[in-house]
Amino acid sequence: MKISKSEFSARRKRLMSEMAPNSVAIIPAAREVTRSRDTEYPFRQNSDFFYLTGFQEPDGVLLLLPGRRQGQVLMFCRDRDPERELWDGYRQGPEGVVKNFGMNDAYPVGDMDDIVPGLIEGRSTVYYSMGHDDSFDRQVFGWINQIRAKVRTGAKPPGDISDLAVLLHEHRLLKSEAEVRIMQRAADISAEAHCRAMRECRPGRYEYHLESSIQHGFAEHGARFAAYNSIVGSGKNACCLHYTENDAKMQDGDLVLIDAGCEFQGYAADITRTFPVNGRFTAEQRAIYDVVLKSQLAAIAATKPGKKWNHPHDVTVRVITEGLVELGLLSGDVDALIESGAYTDFYMHRAGHWLGLDVHDVGEYRIDGKWRPLEPGMALTIEPGIYVATDNMNVDEKWRGIGVRIEDDVVVTESGCDVLTAGVPKLADEIEALMAAT
Ligand code: GLY
Ligand code: MN
Ligand code: MN
Repeated sequence: MKISKSEFSARRKRLMSEMAPNSVAIIPAAREVTRSRDTEYPFRQNSDFFYLTGFQEPDGVLLLLPGRRQGQVLMFCRDRDPERELWDGYRQGPEGVVKNFGMNDAYPVGDMDDIVPGLIEGRSTVYYSMGHDDSFDRQVFGWINQIRAKVRTGAKPPGDISDLAVLLHEHRLLKSEAEVRIMQRAADISAEAHCRAMRECRPGRYEYHLESSIQHGFAEHGARFAAYNSIVGSGKNACCLHYTENDAKMQDGDLVLIDAGCEFQGYAADITRTFPVNGRFTAEQRAIYDVVLKSQLAAIAATKPGKKWNHPHDVTVRVITEGLVELGLLSGDVDALIESGAYTDFYMHRAGHWLGLDVHDVGEYRIDGKWRPLEPGMALTIEPGIYVATDNMNVDEKWRGIGVRIEDDVVVTESGCDVLTAGVPKLADEIEALMAAT
């Protein structure tokens, strides 16, 4: 299951059709990043570059030149090199990217400084996303300056530099059918991995054991990488929103929160489940859990085309505030507590974010300063939580240190939304049943 060559080609054509007349887009691939001396972090392609090419090697550069008769789609890539390939692996080389990735032409990356200024010259707008890679920014400006230095000989440097993201990220925000199918697979793999972690959880094991259960689940079903560092926080560690130490011993009587999702064919899943280490919720844990779940279900039901981005979040705020009042963690009038933001002592993040090639995916949340309406094809997470700080002296001691988040991935449809991550239970009874069955 992959995005087809023709879909990658259609993405490039669509982008070129919206670019200014007589413009060029420059989109660099990611580079390898050193981890220590001569070893690197696992390579992750730049999402914009991947979206337009499907090409997974480092160091390439894609050039889109709408209207260029000799070819509109060019790539610079690593040249074939038998010695380097013996050490570091196969390379497509220019011939391979023309043949297999639909480029009109391709050249070795070492030839860029000779070739690119000539391609930019005479184009009035350069689309380029600055600020992500200093040395590549300098290289791009070096090319433009080479043209500027020759104005007296009639050379025409570009007048405008425009952020490619403005066009491209709107395209990435709306998922195609093929993208939704791939995201469904990423979600299924991730859901299965969460079920594995629930089955393999025992008091006395360490959080990183569950991290490895998750990783095992991903790999077992076809996803080698996590989309982000897995969060496995037991007890009060669940109250640290992006906890990634994952090195505590899990205690009988505590909850454990796992926030983990795989990357499949470039696309992320992002799931959180919170469950009891020993398989049975205490009364307090369950009371908080059920408030979070109620808010999450209400937000999912409220996720529909035409509703504003902020609407599901507002729904979670109301249900959580009501629940906190019912449990005695907050007191007062619900509307006033919402107005004053009193709930933010317990629920301090937003209900979700766009999801796609990046786990916190691209796309504007506001248009002209106003929350944008949801549209079919948008993918987002819905992930409310309640976190009772251990030092919150305003609440009864029995609540302190409980942290719960429940996160699912949804895609907006014509009439509502589809939950991609339904494969992992979230009703407290279902979780207890799954854990009891192992
Ligand atoms: N895993 C990060 C998040 O849920 O946003
Ligand atoms: Mn998450
Ligand atoms: Mn998330």
